[in-house]
Order: sequence, then structure tokens, then C-alpha cells
Amino acid sequence: MKNKSLVSIDDYSKEDYLKIIDLAEEFEKNPVSDILKGKVISTLFFEPSTRTRLSFESAVNKLGGRIIGFTDAASSSVKKGESLKDTILTVANYSDLIVMRHPIEGSARYASEVSGVPVVNAGDGANQHPTQTLLDLYSIKKTQGTLENLNIFLVGDLKYGRTVHSLLMAMSMFNPTFNFISPKTLRIPDEYKIYLDSKGIKYYEHDDFTDYISEGDIMYMTRVQRERFADPIEYEKVKNSYILKNHMLEGTKDNLRILHPLPRVNEIDDEVDDNEKAYYFTQALNGVFTRQAIITSILGLK
Ligand code: CP
Repeated sequence: MKNKSLVSIDDYSKEDYLKIIDLAEEFEKNPVSDILKGKVISTLFFEPSTRTRLSFESAVNKLGGRIIGFTDAASSSVKKGESLKDTILTVANYSDLIVMRHPIEGSARYASEVSGVPVVNAGDGANQHPTQTLLDLYSIKKTQGTLENLNIFLVGDLKYGRTVHSLLMAMSMFNPTFNFISPKTLRIPDEYKIYLDSKGIKYYEHDDFTDYISEGDIMYMTRVQRERFADPIEYEKVKNSYILKNHMLEGTKDNLRILHPLPRVNEIDDEVDDNEKAYYFTQALNGVFTRQAIITSILGLK
């Protein structure tokens, strides 16, 4: 992991995932130190974010490092026509590691190829969100005690949801059974089904979860990604496909936990927030410890 960019979740091995999880556990016990003293981390967000950017910044601040960057490309020289390459070459001069979110799929890989310092992908279009996946793995391990042999329901926008794409690739290392629940127009892309087939992973596709969720260990809800739709009418057709309510969780397993990368729109009713199976806000907290683990691993700091 040292000095290596994290662009796609398959840049890391199963052993790497487990190392990050172990380290995140250590950071959860001791989140404050000066291990990043003298280090500068850049956060370049060409797309909006609350959790990813602020948990990265919280992670760095708690470890004594410094943050520079922008939250809106319009406030940078991108507005004057500067290319991504020139932006990255410049910012790499000012920092030890770059965290970047960008709307174009493949932009993070390109940035990692031109950058002189490691690049961490904080989400590139509908493609990948690997640091979200590592915090999801940490959350699943914490709530289930294991990552192996779990029955995982992925619900909502499986076409455009980049967190789902990264998560299914990572969880494939741990012999899961997947249940993909989505409207027909938002099915998981074929490339991911081919990936699962090549690994011999079982998966099922349904329009609804109510007949099946009693067997679930993890229910991973996702927002319909309005910003990825070319046609707003298509978004209107599917935007209310799933609204999770407490009564739908009756008869589910005790260990079932509801995860969501957030932000949510309406796919989890507020009444579920007080349900003991709701885990999504703790999941967001886990992002701080996991990102501390990712940054220090890449920088080779113990
Ligand atoms: N989970 C996630 O990526 O949230 P933000 O868009 O708020 O960063």
C-alpha cells in the first residue's frame, strides 16, 4: 500500500482490506495523535460531498496533519480553463497525498498516472468509491463479527451507485450471497455480473425485497442518483421505488443491520433512524477511522 494510489477497490488485495480494518480498529481506540505532523493532504472536490470530504479532513486534523484544497472547482483555476493534468501536477507540488472526487469516470486513474504523489479516489462518476467501501467493510465486520458468508441485500440505484460497484467487488473475496433489489432500469451493470460469475459468487435479482429480507444480514440502501440521469423524466419514474419503514423490518434476523453510504433522500423513512438495526450514522463515523488507516498506510507511517 505504501506510496500506492487507491483508485479502484481492486487496487487492494484481501490482505490489504484486512490490514486496513485492523488499523481502523486501532484508530477507533486512539483517534488522536501527531502521526501526520508535517504532512499536507490536498482535498480536491469537483463534485459536492459532506461525509467523504469532512471525514477525510477530520481524520487528518485528528492526526496533526494539514489540509489544503477546494470544495468547488469554480473557485480554482479550472474555471479559467486549466486542465486536470495541470491542476494535479501543481497540487502534487504542494502536498504529500491528493484526495480527489470528480464527475468523470476514469479521472482518478488519470490523475494517479500524472501525479508525483499518491492519489486517493473519493468517487469518480458512477465508477468507484473505494474508501467508502473500506469503511463499509469495517462497518460490516464490526456489526457481524465476520465478513465471511454473509447474505447481503443491495437496494436502490445499482446502475449508477458507485458505492455498490466497489462494495460488491470487495465483498466477493468473502463468499457472500448477493440479492440485488432495483427497478428494472437501474439493474446492476452486466460487467459486474460477469465479474461475480468469474468468481463463482451467487446472486439474485428482484424488484422488491419484502419477500426475501428475513434472510438478510446486511441491507445496503442507496439513493437514486438523480445527477447521473440524462432524462429527468426517467428519474421521476424511479425516484420513489423504495421507502424503508419500520414495519418492513419485522421478522428480520437480529443481526440484520441497515447500512447506507448517505446522503439519503427518501429511501429510508426517518422513523427507522431509532430502530436498533439502523447503522448508517455510525457507518459515517467509521469513515474517520478508516480514512486515518488509509492515509497512514499509503504514507507508510506507523
Ligand atoms: N458517502 C458519500 O460519499 O457521501 P458524500 O457524498 O456526502 O461524501
